[in-house]
Amino acid sequence: MNLDHITLTRIDPIAEREDLIDFITGNHWPFHVTPQMPREQIEKAIESGAYRSDERDSYWVDHADLGRIGLIRFEDLEDDTPVFDLRLASRYRGRGLGVQVLKVATAWVFEHMPATRRFEGQTRDDNLPMRRTFVKAGWVKEAYYRQGWPVTGAEPRDSVAYAILRSDWESGTSTPVPWGQD
Ligand SMILES: CC(C)(COP(=O)(O)OP(=O)(O)OC[C@H]1O[C@@H](n2cnc3c(N)ncnc32)[C@H](O)[C@@H]1OP(=O)(O)O)[C@@H](O)C(=O)NCCC(=O)NCCS
Repeated sequence: MNLDHITLTRIDPIAEREDLIDFITGNHWPFHVTPQMPREQIEKAIESGAYRSDERDSYWVDHADLGRIGLIRFEDLEDDTPVFDLRLASRYRGRGLGVQVLKVATAWVFEHMPATRRFEGQTRDDNLPMRRTFVKAGWVKEAYYRQGWPVTGAEPRDSVAYAILRSDWESGTSTPVPWGQD
């Protein structure tokens, strides 16, 4: 699949602070720990390096025809296995764009981080669009954490972890987890 129509544009969280705040407050995030994040919380997060630091880097997701469709933040960039937080604007959800963005993000990690062998992501158990997106992008479910996803004001939900290996990305395969033994 040609994905040239999807571009990642690096965010300067200080210079683009208002755009970042507008994006987060202007959309609803039903599967995140904080579905509607107040402005003050985002300001604090920006100041504390939540969007750019040694460990984190954030990018707008731009679509050649649709314009700015979302945001992706890479996390744990100094660890062996980086992870990410992908957020499409509400109006661009539900049309299969997530899988395209995840593929572009996967290529970004493996191309920019030559020593990285794995790229990982977790989502809430009931985030079926994200779970399906992982599988459609060739990622493999590696773990299921019962009650591992905190929910503000409610009981925790389960968390599901997926990952893709550089070797699978290079060969275009999805090697299953060898769940042979208890
Ligand atoms: C999660 C997200 C990236 C998914 O991207 P998307 O482009 O909106 O995904 P889609 O809605 O097109 O769904 C992807 C797949 O899931 C399937 N799906 C969607 N809702 C489903 C449901 N309720 N039950 C079963 N399958 C479902 C779709 O049918 C599609 O599969 P298909 O192409 O085989 O038909 C996007 O919705 C988003 O940014 N959501 C808000 C932020 C978020 O939750 N991010 C995840 C952080 S971990």
